[in-house]
Amino acid sequence: MSNTTFENQFAQDVKAGFSAHAKYLSSKYLYDDEGSRIFQEIMNLEEYYPTDCEYEILSQKQEEMLQFFCSGKNSFELLEFGAGDGLKTKLLLNHFVQRNIDFSYVPIDISEDAVRGLVDDLESQLPKLKVRGVVDDYFGALQAMEKRHDIRRIVLFLGGNIGNFDQAYAHQFLQELRKNLTPEDQVLIGFDLKKDPHVVIRAYNDAKGVTRRFNMNLLERMNRELGANFKVRDFMHYPVYDPASGAAKSYIMSKKKQEVFIEALDESFLFEAWEAIHTENSFKYTPYMINELAQECGFEVMYNFMDSRNYFSDSLWQVPAS
Ligand code: AVJ
Repeated sequence: MSNTTFENQFAQDVKAGFSAHAKYLSSKYLYDDEGSRIFQEIMNLEEYYPTDCEYEILSQKQEEMLQFFCSGKNSFELLEFGAGDGLKTKLLLNHFVQRNIDFSYVPIDISEDAVRGLVDDLESQLPKLKVRGVVDDYFGALQAMEKRHDIRRIVLFLGGNIGNFDQAYAHQFLQELRKNLTPEDQVLIGFDLKKDPHVVIRAYNDAKGVTRRFNMNLLERMNRELGANFKVRDFMHYPVYDPASGAAKSYIMSKKKQEVFIEALDESFLFEAWEAIHTENSFKYTPYMINELAQECGFEVMYNFMDSRNYFSDSLWQVPAS
C-alpha cells in the first residue's frame, strides 16, 4: 500500500468519523511511528498492568507453550500480528533458540519503524534466528497469508490487541484468520480480563500523562499528515470504563466551541463545547467469553495461560481436526 493511498484513507476515515452524529476515529490511527513510540512508554508504566501480566506469563510458561507448539511436529513458523517492539515475544524467541528449535519468526506491524527496529535488534541479539519483518495492517496481513500444508503455523496476537475490536470485528478477523489456517495450526491470543474497574481506569489514565499524550497524538497526526489546525491545548484526554460493554473507552473532548480546518479535505469541522471524539475501545473479557468467541470462530481452546493475579490470559487455540 503506498503512502498516498494510506493518507487518503486516513483523510476519508476522518471525514466519515467527524461527520457522524457522535464523532469517532478508528484506534488504528493511534499507531503512527510517534504513537508506536509513545505506546512503548505506556508499556513501561507502573499503572499499565497488561504488559507486566503478559511478561509474567511468557517468562514462566515458555516451555509449556513450546510443548503445545511442537506437539506432533518438530518445526513451525511463528507469525506475530502487531509485533511492536517485540519485548515480550523475545522471551519466547530466546527460549526456543536456546532449545535449538527449528522455527522462523515473522513479525508484522503497521509501523515501519517498529518493524525495522525489531528486526535489527533480533539480528544482533539472536543471530541464529530466522526472521522476516512485514509492514502491514491486520487485514492486509491476513489477506497476504495463505494456507500452508507444509508447515505448522503458530499465530501470535498478544498484548490484548484484540481488545480494540468490537464483537463483530473480532469475529470477522478471527473467522478470516481461521480460513487461512489448517487443522493443527495454533493461535495464541492475549485477552485482558475483567477486573476491578478502578484498576482498569488507572491503566488508561496514568499519573504521568503518557496515555494522554498517546491519545492526543491523533490530533498532532492530523496536523502533520492532513494539514489540520487542531490546537491541542483546547482538547483533553478523557478515558472511562463502561461496565455494560466491558470496555475501557478513550475520548478526546473539545474544551470549547471551535472550528478546525483540515486542508486534505478542504473542509472545516465544528466542535461544540465538551463534544467528544471516540478514539478507542479496549474490551475486557471473561474466560467464558473467550471460550464462546473461540467456538464461534471455529477454534477450540487448548489452554488458558494466566498470570498470578488472573488479570490477563494468553489463550491458546487450535484448529480442530475436521
Ligand atoms: C494495544 C490495544 C492492547 O487497549 O490496552 C493502551 C492500547 N490504549 N493505553 C490497550 C492502549 C491506551 C492497548 N492495546
